[in-house]
Amino acid sequence: MGKRPIRFKISRYRPGHVDPPRFQVFDLSLGPRATVLDALEELRTRHDPTLLYRHSCHHSSCGTCACRINGTERLACVTVVWDLGAEEVVLEPLAGFPRVGDLVVDMGPFYEQIPAGLTCLRESEWNREASPAAGLTLYERFENCIECGACVSACPVSQPPDGFIGPAGLAAISREIEKGAGQAEDLLALAGGDRGVWLCERAVHCSKVCATEVSPARHIHKLRQRLEAEGDS
Ligand code: SF4
Ligand code: FES
Repeated sequence: MGKRPIRFKISRYRPGHVDPPRFQVFDLSLGPRATVLDALEELRTRHDPTLLYRHSCHHSSCGTCACRINGTERLACVTVVWDLGAEEVVLEPLAGFPRVGDLVVDMGPFYEQIPAGLTCLRESEWNREASPAAGLTLYERFENCIECGACVSACPVSQPPDGFIGPAGLAAISREIEKGAGQAEDLLALAGGDRGVWLCERAVHCSKVCATEVSPARHIHKLRQRLEAEGDS
């Protein structure tokens, strides 16, 4: 298969220089497997070395490349341009975060919404029947969330730092409570408080954009059920 012409409209921003933000148009020819991140790298290396975007792993593990692609939050590194079915691709940074430049945002407010002290490991669901090796009581694996911020950007309520803990933070709280963590009572009180689950409008955009199947909306629903069962509604 050959290449197709694709037009990229990228939101450019540089505080004090390209300010307010404006779109810049770039034209590329891309093959069937090229991802949005591939396109950004070609643009930066061959067309405009000032183009700012974040990336690291190139395989949906680090979460750094999340941005809005034709209006939807996605990971640029695993979004194949041809699969978008469009001749024009509009790239914008995640919504609601302080903007640093072009597609780069300050993720600080995202991390501030994750309660301190949560564990990032949990029992693996993949090999519960297997006998753990000597020295292990159970097999563990990392939690799914790659802290990309896509769910927070897509959420109509969560525009940090407005106070709402947000989908990723509430999903983390829910998982921690499920693990039977020692601070479960405090976490449930946090989830049921002024910044918690009752602010959620059930748009479910968070679960739709999550690339790693964390399903924040499902966790928010579980937290609501748990709180209602305890008479805290
Ligand atoms: S819950 Fe999903 S969308 Fe939200 S930060 Fe984690 S991986 Fe990203
Ligand atoms: S570059 Fe790591 S998730 Fe995309």
